[in-house]
Amino acid sequence: MSRTVYVNGEYLPEEEARVSVFDRGFLFADGVYEVTSVLDGRLIDFPGHAERLSRSLRELEMESPVTDEQLLDIHRELVRVNGIEEGMVYLQVTRGVADRDFAWGAEGEPTIVLFTQSKPGLADNPKAREGMKVISIADRRWGRRDIKTVQLLYPSMAKMAARKAGADDAWMVEDGFVTEGTSNNAYIVTGGRIVTRHLGEEILHGITRAAVLRVARDLQMEVEERPFTLEEARAADEAFVTSASTFVMPVVEIDGASVGEGRPGPVAARLREVYLDEMRAAAI
Ligand code: PDD
Repeated sequence: MSRTVYVNGEYLPEEEARVSVFDRGFLFADGVYEVTSVLDGRLIDFPGHAERLSRSLRELEMESPVTDEQLLDIHRELVRVNGIEEGMVYLQVTRGVADRDFAWGAEGEPTIVLFTQSKPGLADNPKAREGMKVISIADRRWGRRDIKTVQLLYPSMAKMAARKAGADDAWMVEDGFVTEGTSNNAYIVTGGRIVTRHLGEEILHGITRAAVLRVARDLQMEVEERPFTLEEARAADEAFVTSASTFVMPVVEIDGASVGEGRPGPVAARLREVYLDEMRAAAI
């Protein structure tokens, strides 16, 4: 069955949705995005995603084409008409249509597109019981990774390299320290502490990261926000990642070497459980 998608004010069957070939999102990756998960037909941490969207737009001097209230209505309407119980809502805003020129002018309205992806079993993911395998790869992305832009070529290539190596994902490394996964934030558990890279321009400020660290602190777990190396990660008791699509997902292997006992650990399992419970309760 065809999905209903949202394009610039209209709800359309996906086959009828159109964006111009002159859209700067297409020509220059001049756009930003958000991915919000859906559980029980409701949006997980929508305010967090709306706030980060505003920040990404502001950093790129772009106007938001809609208010937060309108954005919430569009998200909810797409979830409703497409009958999404578990899955995601993808949102993209680009600078809009203009004749091709590196410099942008005042012309054109932003382009806004939203669509849903149904993912039954998103929360009860068997990978959470098995754990993920990651490889390490150099981080060759641009320097403003705190802005959630649609220029995802390097992370896509890194993900393909991981697949070719028989792994699930890649952890990117810069100046000897892990930055993050291709589409998730990275953590280790060592010396009884949860360690994850501090916020800055080198990583995306994950909405799941913020919630999971809050949960960890509520559970009296110790959290250290600082860079860590691959060596430290390989010697850690546990490793895991967080994102809107994976929630809290254990990592059991890095570059072919087991982390801890090579199976998901108790810290990641507990954080996943409490995070999901709290987020389901607060979903809208
Ligand atoms: N990715 N780091 C990167 C590079 C990401 O692309 C993402 C999200 C995250 C986690 O952020 P959050 O917790 O807000 O989802 C960290 C989304 C899920 C994606 O591109 O599909």
